[in-house]
Amino acid sequence: MENGTTRQVRTLILGAGAAGMMCAAQAGPGCLVVDHAKKPGEKIRISGGGRCNFTNLDIRPECYLGENPHFHKSALARYTQWDFISMVSEHGIGWHEKTLGQLFCDDSARDIIEMLRAEMGPAELWLSTQLVDLRHDGTFVATLEREGRRTGVRAERLVVATGAKSIPKMGATGLAYDIARQFGHRVTETRPGLVPLTFPDGRFKPLSGVAVPARVATDRAAFDEGMLFTHRGLSGPAVLQASSYWREGEAVEIDLAPGTDLATALREGRAAQGRRALTTELARHLPQRLVAHLSETMDLSGNLGDLSDARIAALAEALGCWRLVPAGSEGYRTAEVTLGGVATDTLSSQTMESAQVPGLYFIGEAVDVTGWLGGYNFQWAWSSGWAAGQAI
Ligand code: FDA
Repeated sequence: MENGTTRQVRTLILGAGAAGMMCAAQAGPGCLVVDHAKKPGEKIRISGGGRCNFTNLDIRPECYLGENPHFHKSALARYTQWDFISMVSEHGIGWHEKTLGQLFCDDSARDIIEMLRAEMGPAELWLSTQLVDLRHDGTFVATLEREGRRTGVRAERLVVATGAKSIPKMGATGLAYDIARQFGHRVTETRPGLVPLTFPDGRFKPLSGVAVPARVATDRAAFDEGMLFTHRGLSGPAVLQASSYWREGEAVEIDLAPGTDLATALREGRAAQGRRALTTELARHLPQRLVAHLSETMDLSGNLGDLSDARIAALAEALGCWRLVPAGSEGYRTAEVTLGGVATDTLSSQTMESAQVPGLYFIGEAVDVTGWLGGYNFQWAWSSGWAAGQAI
């Protein structure tokens, strides 16, 4: 009832994003899904440049970060990328592999949202709805507000699927963490992940738009993919991936010519074209604007014929191991994900249910499980949403 009395439902799902919709699709009748946004699945809509990189062919537990490196294994093994691919195919949605196992819709990310809405069947969806209050007296009692009217909802089960802090402009909030703390759960340190790194001194401004294949390494992981210079610093897949492993104050090491033996190339160039300028030779391996930039901080003067073996070795070392200390990252404003979240030590890895409060579930990005770039995060949303939905 919506006139002052309390409405009874079996399951209340907070958040109509990727995980919440998948959970509702599995949860069966008596399910109410609530979101403060005007539309469901807004992050799905903008993901993958509007084509949604919905999973990856190569989902492996090692491609996820979190306090417990084993927690996510069960859900990912029970609802796999192949299960999601089947669902997508059954709905007649065309898809293709772009690179590195990353699967995208042929047409539009909206197809995935429509598919999930269809899969949700009889589940009720309340949009533009705020959670005003939440209590627990054996069952969950939520006060919701929509269109200026308050409604009490009593639910046997509560699924928290409100995501994390990335891109507040799109409605991201820390509600899941507040609810977790309210019910005695620990929240691990959160920080932006898959995020561009910044150098506020503007040193890369002249290089803005230059892209190179690179190997970007932190102390904990290295990624061979594209790197992009921006007016604020460094971006591109290799940098975004590395950013999830990077900590403030640490250096990143960049190999500007991965897979190329620069020392050999320079020695061969010296033998064949001794009068060629070193910068000309380097521009055969690196973008010209990058060579010009590097020449401001490294000695790239002279011809190939002038180079000693020692100088060639030093140059190859400098370009293969370019050490930079970013000042920071672009933060939650542009981060694709939030690292950390609801601690997994008091959640069931089979069902995502709280060990402390029976009937309470946390799924998706709210949980301290974060994937690599390339469809890994949506797969976690599908798998954890499915696991909770099945248990409900
Ligand atoms: P999600 O954020 O999807 O949903 C949470 C829902 O809860 C939202 O609908 C929100 O409105 C609602 N909510 C939040 N606070 C609330 C509150 N206080 N009250 C009520 N409702 C509330 N991943 C991937 O695998 N492939 C990709 O291509 C991309 N691309 C991508 C691009 C961009 C720009 C971003 C920001 C992120 C991606 N991601 C991605 C990451 C992916 O979008 C993310 O991991 C999932 O959407 C997480 O799903 P959840 O359902 O957990 O949260």
